[in-house]
Amino acid sequence: MRVGVLTGGGDCPGLNAVIRAVVRRGVAEYGYDFVGFRDGWKGPLEGLTVPLDIPAVRGILPRGGTILGSSRTNPIKVEGGIEQIERNLEDLGIDALIAIGGEDTLGVATKLTEHGFHVIGVPKTIDNDLSATDYTFGFDTAVTVASEAIDRLHTTAESHHRILICEVMGRHAGWIALHSGMAGGANGILIPEVPFDLGEVIGWVDSRFKASYAPILCVAEGALPKQGSLITKDETLDAFGHVKLSGIGEWLATEIEGRTGHEARTTVLGHIQRGGSPTAFDRVLATRFGLNAITAVKDQAWGTMVALQGTDIVRVPLEAATGVLKTVPLARYEEASSFFG
Ligand code: F6P
Repeated sequence: MRVGVLTGGGDCPGLNAVIRAVVRRGVAEYGYDFVGFRDGWKGPLEGLTVPLDIPAVRGILPRGGTILGSSRTNPIKVEGGIEQIERNLEDLGIDALIAIGGEDTLGVATKLTEHGFHVIGVPKTIDNDLSATDYTFGFDTAVTVASEAIDRLHTTAESHHRILICEVMGRHAGWIALHSGMAGGANGILIPEVPFDLGEVIGWVDSRFKASYAPILCVAEGALPKQGSLITKDETLDAFGHVKLSGIGEWLATEIEGRTGHEARTTVLGHIQRGGSPTAFDRVLATRFGLNAITAVKDQAWGTMVALQGTDIVRVPLEAATGVLKTVPLARYEEASSFFG
Protein backbone atom coordinates (compact mmCIF):
# COMPACT_ATOMS: atom_id res chain seq x y z
CA MET A 1 0.00 0.00 0.00
CA ARG A 2 1.32 3.44 -0.98
CA VAL A 3 -0.10 6.27 1.11
CA GLY A 4 0.08 9.97 0.32
CA VAL A 5 0.03 12.53 3.14
CA LEU A 6 -0.68 16.26 2.91
CA THR A 7 -1.21 19.19 5.28
CA GLY A 8 -3.44 22.02 4.04
CA GLY A 9 -4.72 25.42 5.17
CA GLY A 10 -3.26 27.51 7.98
CA ASP A 11 -0.52 25.54 9.74
CA CYS A 12 -0.85 24.66 13.40
CA PRO A 13 1.27 23.12 16.14
CA GLY A 14 0.94 19.33 16.11
CA LEU A 15 0.93 18.73 12.34
CA ASN A 16 4.36 17.11 12.51
CA ALA A 17 3.26 14.90 15.40
CA VAL A 18 0.44 13.54 13.19
CA ILE A 19 2.79 12.92 10.26
CA ARG A 20 5.27 11.13 12.53
CA ALA A 21 2.61 8.86 14.03
CA VAL A 22 1.13 8.00 10.61
CA VAL A 23 4.54 7.04 9.22
CA ARG A 24 5.84 5.26 12.31
CA ARG A 25 2.81 2.97 12.65
CA GLY A 26 2.34 2.67 8.89
CA VAL A 27 5.89 1.47 8.26
CA ALA A 28 6.49 -0.57 11.41
CA GLU A 29 3.10 -2.26 11.81
CA TYR A 30 1.61 -2.35 8.31
CA GLY A 31 4.66 -2.26 6.02
CA TYR A 32 3.32 0.70 3.98
CA ASP A 33 5.22 3.15 1.76
CA PHE A 34 4.60 6.87 2.00
CA VAL A 35 4.74 9.87 -0.31
CA GLY A 36 4.69 13.38 1.18
CA PHE A 37 2.79 15.97 -0.85
CA ARG A 38 4.10 19.51 -0.66
CA ASP A 39 2.01 22.53 0.30
CA GLY A 40 -1.49 21.18 0.78
CA TRP A 41 -3.58 20.45 -2.31
CA LYS A 42 -0.95 22.17 -4.47
CA GLY A 43 1.14 18.97 -4.06
CA PRO A 44 -1.30 16.48 -5.61
CA LEU A 45 -2.43 19.10 -8.12
CA GLU A 46 1.06 19.79 -9.44
CA GLY A 47 2.67 16.46 -8.55
CA LEU A 48 5.01 18.03 -5.95
CA THR A 49 6.30 15.32 -3.63
CA VAL A 50 8.92 14.76 -0.94
CA PRO A 51 10.22 11.47 0.47
CA LEU A 52 8.40 10.43 3.61
CA ASP A 53 9.94 7.61 5.61
CA ILE A 54 11.12 6.91 9.16
CA PRO A 55 14.33 9.03 8.88
CA ALA A 56 12.25 11.94 7.53
CA VAL A 57 10.08 11.97 10.65
CA ARG A 58 12.83 11.61 13.24
CA GLY A 59 12.87 14.46 15.79
CA ILE A 60 9.78 16.24 14.52
CA LEU A 61 7.36 15.51 17.40
CA PRO A 62 7.96 18.82 19.25
CA ARG A 63 8.50 20.92 16.14
CA GLY A 64 5.83 23.44 15.11
CA GLY A 65 4.75 24.01 11.49
CA THR A 66 4.72 21.16 9.01
CA ILE A 67 7.63 19.43 7.31
CA LEU A 68 5.38 19.06 4.24
CA GLY A 69 4.57 22.75 3.89
CA SER A 70 1.04 24.07 3.54
CA SER A 71 -1.04 26.34 1.33
CA ARG A 72 -4.61 27.44 0.80
CA THR A 73 -4.67 26.10 -2.77
CA ASN A 74 -8.21 25.14 -3.74
CA PRO A 75 -8.18 22.60 -6.60
CA ILE A 76 -11.95 22.90 -6.97
CA LYS A 77 -11.41 26.45 -8.21
CA VAL A 78 -8.89 25.24 -10.80
CA GLU A 79 -10.38 24.17 -14.14
CA GLY A 80 -10.08 20.35 -14.26
CA GLY A 81 -8.32 20.42 -10.87
CA ILE A 82 -9.91 17.31 -9.39
CA GLU A 83 -9.24 15.28 -12.57
CA GLN A 84 -5.62 16.51 -12.54
CA ILE A 85 -5.23 15.32 -8.94
CA GLU A 86 -6.73 11.94 -9.81
CA ARG A 87 -4.27 11.55 -12.71
CA ASN A 88 -1.28 12.53 -10.57
CA LEU A 89 -2.27 10.17 -7.77
CA GLU A 90 -2.63 7.35 -10.26
CA ASP A 91 0.73 8.11 -11.91
CA LEU A 92 2.41 8.11 -8.51
CA GLY A 93 0.73 4.81 -7.59
CA ILE A 94 -1.02 6.29 -4.56
CA ASP A 95 -3.60 3.91 -3.09
CA ALA A 96 -4.83 6.17 -0.31
CA LEU A 97 -4.45 9.74 0.86
CA ILE A 98 -4.40 11.16 4.38
CA ALA A 99 -5.49 14.81 4.32
CA ILE A 100 -4.70 16.76 7.47
CA GLY A 101 -6.58 20.03 7.53
CA GLY A 102 -9.49 22.18 8.54
CA GLU A 103 -12.85 22.93 6.99
CA ASP A 104 -11.45 23.90 3.56
CA THR A 105 -8.90 21.10 3.16
CA LEU A 106 -11.37 18.48 4.35
CA GLY A 107 -14.06 19.95 2.07
CA VAL A 108 -11.80 19.12 -0.89
CA ALA A 109 -11.15 15.67 0.64
CA THR A 110 -14.92 15.12 0.71
CA LYS A 111 -15.14 16.01 -3.00
CA LEU A 112 -12.36 13.54 -3.86
CA THR A 113 -14.16 10.83 -1.90
CA GLU A 114 -17.28 11.48 -3.96
CA HIS A 115 -15.10 10.86 -7.04
CA GLY A 116 -14.23 7.45 -5.58
CA PHE A 117 -10.77 8.26 -4.23
CA HIS A 118 -9.57 6.67 -0.98
CA VAL A 119 -9.22 9.51 1.51
CA ILE A 120 -8.99 9.66 5.31
CA GLY A 121 -9.22 13.04 7.06
CA VAL A 122 -7.48 14.34 10.16
CA PRO A 123 -9.00 17.46 11.76
CA LYS A 124 -6.65 20.37 12.32
CA THR A 125 -7.16 24.00 13.26
CA ILE A 126 -6.17 26.29 16.08
CA ASP A 127 -9.73 27.67 15.85
CA ASN A 128 -11.31 24.42 17.20
CA ASP A 129 -14.33 25.06 14.98
CA LEU A 130 -14.70 21.67 13.28
CA SER A 131 -17.86 19.77 14.09
CA ALA A 132 -17.83 16.12 15.13
CA THR A 133 -14.64 16.42 17.17
CA ASP A 134 -14.51 17.78 20.71
CA TYR A 135 -11.08 19.30 20.10
CA THR A 136 -8.68 19.86 17.25
CA PHE A 137 -4.93 19.86 17.94
CA GLY A 138 -3.29 23.29 17.86
CA PHE A 139 -6.12 24.83 19.83
CA ASP A 140 -4.60 24.08 23.23
CA THR A 141 -1.27 25.58 22.12
CA ALA A 142 -2.96 28.74 20.81
CA VAL A 143 -4.93 29.12 24.04
CA THR A 144 -1.78 28.61 26.11
CA VAL A 145 0.06 31.31 24.14
CA ALA A 146 -2.87 33.74 24.37
CA SER A 147 -3.46 33.14 28.11
CA GLU A 148 0.18 33.79 28.86
CA ALA A 149 -0.01 37.00 26.82
CA ILE A 150 -3.08 38.12 28.79
CA ASP A 151 -1.27 37.41 32.09
CA ARG A 152 1.53 39.68 30.90
CA LEU A 153 -0.87 42.39 29.75
CA HIS A 154 -2.45 42.52 33.24
CA THR A 155 0.74 43.66 34.96
CA THR A 156 1.65 46.37 32.48
CA ALA A 157 -1.98 47.59 32.26
CA GLU A 158 -2.03 48.00 36.07
CA SER A 159 1.20 50.00 36.03
CA HIS A 160 -0.09 52.46 33.44
CA HIS A 161 -3.81 52.49 34.32
CA ARG A 162 -4.59 51.65 30.70
CA ILE A 163 -7.12 49.53 28.91
CA LEU A 164 -5.25 46.77 27.10
CA ILE A 165 -6.95 44.80 24.37
CA CYS A 166 -5.70 41.41 23.23
CA GLU A 167 -6.84 40.45 19.71
CA VAL A 168 -6.71 36.73 19.04
CA MET A 169 -7.53 34.57 16.01
CA GLY A 170 -11.02 33.20 15.39
CA ARG A 171 -12.74 34.05 12.15
CA HIS A 172 -16.21 32.59 12.69
CA ALA A 173 -15.79 30.95 16.08
CA GLY A 174 -14.60 32.53 19.32
CA TRP A 175 -13.16 29.45 21.02
CA ILE A 176 -9.65 30.87 21.41
CA ALA A 177 -11.00 34.16 22.82
CA LEU A 178 -13.39 32.35 25.15
CA HIS A 179 -10.81 29.95 26.58
CA SER A 180 -7.84 32.31 26.76
CA GLY A 181 -10.02 35.14 28.07
CA MET A 182 -11.37 32.88 30.82
CA ALA A 183 -7.96 31.43 31.63
CA GLY A 184 -6.35 34.87 31.64
CA GLY A 185 -9.10 36.57 33.65
CA ALA A 186 -10.09 39.08 30.96
CA ASN A 187 -12.72 41.64 32.00
CA GLY A 188 -14.55 41.27 28.72
CA ILE A 189 -14.49 38.68 25.92
CA LEU A 190 -15.86 39.48 22.47
CA ILE A 191 -16.58 36.68 20.01
CA PRO A 192 -18.00 36.46 16.46
CA GLU A 193 -21.06 34.50 17.61
CA VAL A 194 -22.37 37.33 19.83
CA PRO A 195 -22.28 40.82 18.30
CA PHE A 196 -21.28 43.22 21.07
CA ASP A 197 -22.74 46.48 22.25
CA LEU A 198 -20.04 49.14 22.54
CA GLY A 199 -21.90 50.89 25.38
CA GLU A 200 -21.88 47.65 27.37
CA VAL A 201 -18.14 47.16 26.79
CA ILE A 202 -17.53 50.71 28.02
CA GLY A 203 -19.61 49.86 31.09
CA TRP A 204 -17.24 46.95 31.84
CA VAL A 205 -14.23 49.23 31.39
CA ASP A 206 -15.67 51.86 33.76
CA SER A 207 -16.57 49.37 36.44
CA ARG A 208 -13.09 47.86 36.31
CA PHE A 209 -11.46 51.27 36.75
CA LYS A 210 -13.87 52.02 39.64
CA ALA A 211 -12.56 48.89 41.36
CA SER A 212 -9.03 50.37 40.89
CA TYR A 213 -7.91 47.77 38.38
CA ALA A 214 -6.99 48.18 34.73
CA PRO A 215 -9.35 46.51 32.24
CA ILE A 216 -8.21 43.76 29.88
CA LEU A 217 -10.39 42.84 26.92
CA CYS A 218 -9.90 39.73 24.81
CA VAL A 219 -11.38 40.04 21.33
CA ALA A 220 -11.60 37.49 18.51
CA GLU A 221 -10.59 38.89 15.10
CA GLY A 222 -14.06 38.03 13.77
CA ALA A 223 -15.98 39.81 16.55
CA LEU A 224 -18.26 42.55 15.34
CA PRO A 225 -20.04 45.47 16.95
CA LYS A 226 -23.86 45.51 16.91
CA GLN A 227 -23.54 49.07 15.62
CA GLY A 228 -21.08 48.29 12.81
CA SER A 229 -19.72 45.63 10.49
CA LEU A 230 -16.86 43.16 10.31
CA ILE A 231 -13.46 44.86 10.27
CA THR A 232 -11.04 43.42 7.72
CA LYS A 233 -7.43 44.05 6.83
CA ASP A 234 -8.18 44.52 3.14
CA GLU A 235 -10.69 43.39 0.55
CA THR A 236 -8.71 40.50 -0.98
CA LEU A 237 -10.09 36.95 -0.77
CA ASP A 238 -8.12 33.72 -0.57
CA ALA A 239 -8.89 30.70 -2.79
CA PHE A 240 -11.59 29.57 -0.37
CA GLY A 241 -13.25 33.00 -0.37
CA HIS A 242 -12.02 34.22 3.05
CA VAL A 243 -11.13 37.86 3.69
CA LYS A 244 -8.05 38.74 5.79
CA LEU A 245 -9.24 39.71 9.25
CA SER A 246 -7.60 41.83 11.97
CA GLY A 247 -8.33 45.38 13.02
CA ILE A 248 -11.19 44.99 15.47
CA GLY A 249 -8.76 45.46 18.42
CA GLU A 250 -7.49 48.79 17.04
CA TRP A 251 -11.03 49.91 16.27
CA LEU A 252 -12.09 49.13 19.85
CA ALA A 253 -9.10 50.96 21.34
CA THR A 254 -9.90 54.10 19.36
CA GLU A 255 -13.59 53.99 20.28
CA ILE A 256 -12.99 53.29 23.96
CA GLU A 257 -10.27 55.93 24.29
CA GLY A 258 -12.50 58.50 22.56
CA ARG A 259 -15.48 57.75 24.78
CA THR A 260 -13.80 57.24 28.17
CA GLY A 261 -10.73 59.47 27.98
CA HIS A 262 -8.64 56.53 29.27
CA GLU A 263 -5.69 55.42 27.20
CA ALA A 264 -6.36 52.16 25.33
CA ARG A 265 -3.84 50.02 23.40
CA THR A 266 -4.10 46.83 21.40
CA THR A 267 -1.85 43.80 21.09
CA VAL A 268 -2.56 41.61 18.06
CA LEU A 269 -1.19 38.11 18.72
CA GLY A 270 -1.59 36.99 15.09
CA HIS A 271 0.57 34.12 13.93
CA ILE A 272 2.41 33.81 17.24
CA GLN A 273 -0.62 31.70 18.24
CA ARG A 274 0.07 29.32 15.36
CA GLY A 275 3.84 29.04 15.54
CA GLY A 276 6.23 27.13 17.77
CA SER A 277 6.16 23.92 19.70
CA PRO A 278 2.83 22.20 20.51
CA THR A 279 1.75 21.74 24.13
CA ALA A 280 1.86 18.23 25.60
CA PHE A 281 -1.94 18.00 25.16
CA ASP A 282 -1.67 18.80 21.44
CA ARG A 283 1.25 16.40 20.94
CA VAL A 284 -0.74 13.55 22.47
CA LEU A 285 -3.96 14.39 20.57
CA ALA A 286 -2.09 14.78 17.27
CA THR A 287 -0.21 11.52 17.84
CA ARG A 288 -3.43 9.63 18.61
CA PHE A 289 -5.08 11.12 15.50
CA GLY A 290 -2.11 10.01 13.37
CA LEU A 291 -2.09 6.46 14.74
CA ASN A 292 -5.83 6.11 14.21
CA ALA A 293 -5.73 7.67 10.73
CA ILE A 294 -3.29 5.07 9.41
CA THR A 295 -5.34 2.32 11.04
CA ALA A 296 -8.39 3.73 9.24
CA VAL A 297 -6.39 3.31 6.00
CA LYS A 298 -5.67 -0.31 6.91
CA ASP A 299 -9.40 -0.83 7.63
CA GLN A 300 -10.28 0.89 4.34
CA ALA A 301 -12.64 3.26 6.16
CA TRP A 302 -12.61 5.64 3.16
CA GLY A 303 -14.36 8.97 3.45
CA THR A 304 -14.02 9.12 7.22
CA MET A 305 -12.23 11.47 9.56
CA VAL A 306 -10.72 10.61 12.92
CA ALA A 307 -12.25 12.63 15.74
CA LEU A 308 -12.01 13.04 19.50
CA GLN A 309 -15.23 12.32 21.35
CA GLY A 310 -14.81 12.38 25.10
CA THR A 311 -11.48 10.63 25.51
CA ASP A 312 -11.98 8.23 22.60
CA ILE A 313 -10.75 8.57 19.04
CA VAL A 314 -13.62 7.62 16.74
CA ARG A 315 -14.35 7.72 12.99
CA VAL A 316 -16.99 10.02 11.55
CA PRO A 317 -18.00 10.70 7.92
CA LEU A 318 -15.91 13.53 6.42
CA GLU A 319 -19.05 15.60 5.74
CA ALA A 320 -19.92 15.53 9.44
CA ALA A 321 -16.88 17.68 10.11
CA THR A 322 -17.25 20.17 7.31
CA GLY A 323 -21.01 20.65 6.91
CA VAL A 324 -21.56 23.05 9.80
CA LEU A 325 -18.95 24.94 11.82
CA LYS A 326 -18.76 24.30 15.55
CA THR A 327 -19.33 27.72 17.07
CA VAL A 328 -19.41 28.74 20.73
CA PRO A 329 -22.86 27.99 22.24
CA LEU A 330 -24.52 30.97 23.88
CA ALA A 331 -24.60 29.17 27.24
CA ARG A 332 -20.79 28.88 27.22
CA TYR A 333 -20.46 32.60 26.53
CA GLU A 334 -22.95 33.45 29.27
CA GLU A 335 -20.92 31.33 31.70
CA ALA A 336 -17.83 33.43 30.94
CA SER A 337 -19.80 36.68 31.21
CA SER A 338 -20.06 36.29 35.01
CA PHE A 339 -16.55 37.76 35.07
CA PHE A 340 -17.12 40.70 32.72
CA GLY A 341 -16.73 44.19 34.10
O1 F6P B 1 -7.91 29.00 10.20
C1 F6P B 1 -6.88 29.27 11.07
C2 F6P B 1 -6.54 30.74 11.08
O2 F6P B 1 -5.45 30.87 11.95
C3 F6P B 1 -7.69 31.68 11.45
O3 F6P B 1 -7.91 31.81 12.83
C4 F6P B 1 -7.24 32.95 10.83
O4 F6P B 1 -8.32 33.81 10.52
C5 F6P B 1 -6.57 32.51 9.58
O5 F6P B 1 -6.14 31.19 9.80
C6 F6P B 1 -5.41 33.37 9.15
O6 F6P B 1 -4.92 32.84 7.97
P1 F6P B 1 -3.59 33.32 7.22
O7 F6P B 1 -2.44 32.87 8.02
O8 F6P B 1 -3.66 32.65 5.91
O9 F6P B 1 -3.68 34.81 7.14
